[in-house]
Amino acid sequence: MSSLGFEHVHRPGADAAAPTLLLLHGTGGTEHDLISIAEAIAPDARILSPRGKVLEGSMSRFFRRLSEGVFDLDDLRFRTRELADFVLAAAAHYRFDAANVTAVGFSNGANIAASLLLLEPGVLAGGILFRAMVPLVPDPLPSLAGTRILMSNGRVDAMIPAVQAEQLAAMFTQCGADLTIEWQPGGHKLTNQDVALAREWLRQA
Ligand code: MLT
Repeated sequence: MSSLGFEHVHRPGADAAAPTLLLLHGTGGTEHDLISIAEAIAPDARILSPRGKVLEGSMSRFFRRLSEGVFDLDDLRFRTRELADFVLAAAAHYRFDAANVTAVGFSNGANIAASLLLLEPGVLAGGILFRAMVPLVPDPLPSLAGTRILMSNGRVDAMIPAVQAEQLAAMFTQCGADLTIEWQPGGHKLTNQDVALAREWLRQA
């Protein structure tokens, strides 16, 4: 579907009160990538899954980068606002509770989820961030009191140095978020352990 400004998939949840999972794919992915993972994490949830609008060659992303790990911060701010507007417009259009949206992001998708949490606090009730790094450092830092965040990173991730994940975790904690960070033995690729961890974390909400 291409309405509301983003190509996206929307699938209603088991009932009107079901939480919404905002799925945010990695570089080169599509709006379909994380659907089976979302179904494994929370089978009853509503799914809202946009495709990133920035093209790097033929690869879709959620914001522009200058090189690997070096982000175009003006574009990141613009794209973060644009994604926030999409979530709010989708809530009105599909009639779901805008206060009950949890992001599930992988890599570039986890980075824009982190940016959404930091720049547009209140849009997300929480976030599951697989392989995230620091997208930007807002000044001042927002209050994220009451916001649940799960970070899952790989100990031997060649793309995301552990120190980057630790800095992001420290920033979320400084903002007052209810943060859990877990380390996987592997690298950048998602594993069944990530999925099991996310399912358990969401169940405890
Ligand atoms: C990014 O550009 O967001 C990160 O480097 C991760 C990725 O390559 O997607």
